[in-house]
Amino acid sequence: MNTNRLSKTIAAALNAQMTKEAHASQIYLAYGAWANHQRFGGIGNFLFRHAQEERNHMMKILEYILKRGGKVQVTAISAPPENPKSIFNCFEKIFDHEVDNTKGIYKLVKMSLEEEDWATWNFMQWFVKEQVEEETLAMNLLDKIKIAGGEQINSTALYSLDRDFETATDEVKSAQEVTAINP
Ligand code: FEO
Repeated sequence: MNTNRLSKTIAAALNAQMTKEAHASQIYLAYGAWANHQRFGGIGNFLFRHAQEERNHMMKILEYILKRGGKVQVTAISAPPENPKSIFNCFEKIFDHEVDNTKGIYKLVKMSLEEEDWATWNFMQWFVKEQVEEETLAMNLLDKIKIAGGEQINSTALYSLDRDFETATDEVKSAQEVTAINP
């Protein structure tokens, strides 16, 4: 009896997205190590925390594939891109990466809609919402650095920015969760 509830194409796309999340984790890990090496411990720790979050995304997809009776394919993870050239460039690269990740999520949403796989469509909605948060977070951080001078940021501003990152939250609330009382 076949208990697999995922089509071949959906299973392949889910596995690909799972690997993409693992790759994202490697990117944050690499940039975190780079930032620490540049003596920006606050930014580095923030990036390390985010690497863990990406790994959680990977696990979430892995568990879903198993729950639906599909086969998980753990493959090699490609190397992260080269290190950023500056702190500003680091957050530019992160923003670009998040936008690229969103494309992978949208591909799965479209696919599940076309195949009328409503379970996968429903599962992917969590990621759609999460990507809005991730892109917003990256955008906000980039804006913050831009205000502080972008590529021309001076060492005093960098120092206080690094301290801010030490305590910066990794989560950005989406509009659905925000109320006047709990903004
Ligand atoms: Fe798992 Fe940053 O998206």
